Amino acid sequence: MTINGTRLLARIQELAQIGAIEGTQGCSRLAFTDSDREGRDLVMTWMTDLGLTVTVDAVGNVVASTSSAGATGAVMAGSHIDTVGTGGRFDGNLGVLAGLEVIEATLAADIELNRPLAVAFFSNEEGSRYPPDMMGSLAYVGGMSVESVLEIEGADGTVVGDELERIGYRGAAPCPGAVPHAFVELHIEQGPVLDNEAVQIGVVEGVQGISWTELKFIGQSNHAGTTPMSLRRDPMAVAAEVAVAARSIATDLGGTQVATVGSLTLHPNLVNVVPAHATMTVDLRNTDETLLRQAEQQLMNSVQQIADREDVIVESRSLARFEPVEFDERVVDCIEALAKQKGLSTRRMPSGAGHDAQMIARVCPTGMIFVPSLDGVSHNPAEHTDDEDLVAGTQLLADAMLALTEVTW
Ligand code: GLV
Ligand code: MN
Ligand code: MN
Repeated sequence: MTINGTRLLARIQELAQIGAIEGTQGCSRLAFTDSDREGRDLVMTWMTDLGLTVTVDAVGNVVASTSSAGATGAVMAGSHIDTVGTGGRFDGNLGVLAGLEVIEATLAADIELNRPLAVAFFSNEEGSRYPPDMMGSLAYVGGMSVESVLEIEGADGTVVGDELERIGYRGAAPCPGAVPHAFVELHIEQGPVLDNEAVQIGVVEGVQGISWTELKFIGQSNHAGTTPMSLRRDPMAVAAEVAVAARSIATDLGGTQVATVGSLTLHPNLVNVVPAHATMTVDLRNTDETLLRQAEQQLMNSVQQIADREDVIVESRSLARFEPVEFDERVVDCIEALAKQKGLSTRRMPSGAGHDAQMIARVCPTGMIFVPSLDGVSHNPAEHTDDEDLVAGTQLLADAMLALTEVTW
């Protein structure tokens, strides 16, 4: 069976018009916003036009299956169509539209399969508006209750349940959802490895652990001109030192350890006022759980020391915490063997980014396929993957999904 690359590319292009960031190739479709709704509506239309059985669950996950009985026992593809506020057009979207293309091409070829095929898009994979990331797929596998998801408050003060209701995606399908026979997610790498090494396909062995912490430093707001340096209790000074400490922890630990301060908010945020409080996030990731714990410990030690020195109060809360995940060796081997058969160059690798597949791996054999990201740029409107890589990845997804319909566990 051969997928239709032109149709795939046209759909990627059409979906990217929704929430398009002017003057760029990028998209802004934060979870449960109006543009997310528009994107959902478009993809749902494509699903229903194919005659698939489409369900929406209580947290807005959408699953389309070739079987009227739904996705239980199906070979499922999927990913997400929400983006970070300044995202690209491929992150997540590729995995969903590629899954749809595999199904459309299979139906057109009239191939008889032992099992249904399914494609899903999971709610709020990015977690930028509402933590944690992979929220929809986590709920789909029962890792978080629907009630807890619906009451999560976002960075903008809105609440998941209200926004889901508002955009019309609080569905009736059961959550946790149907357990597939196998799950494969095609995704852009979002890092530089494949592009640097001119390798066509990344065979993903697992996903590194993720730890997100929000830190709030509460000091003493005061006059910028009259307050002597020695008498300040400045939460911004603490935040700045913590940002530098987080970076040093990562560089000192080395290996796959990374640390990012991606958000910092000051109050009242005025030129001539020592801030009253500073709120920042720290994102720590490592493929090794023990080392990730070490990094978390070191970070909290530094936070306490720095804050004590400035006599600033610390409040911290975990926004997301996921251990590293290893994918099913049988699925990984299957993807690798099929890619090699096709003459594609391959490389085994871990994923640096979080993915829905790491959640679905809790309930069924799961794997991922990566295609190259130009210069490793992602979570950026400039994110780019060449057409031929998008098409080759989708054909490999098709080959893998069809092969997995024949495998019994
Ligand atoms: C999700 O895309 C993440 O890795 O932050
Ligand atoms: Mn993604
Ligand atoms: Mn992303």
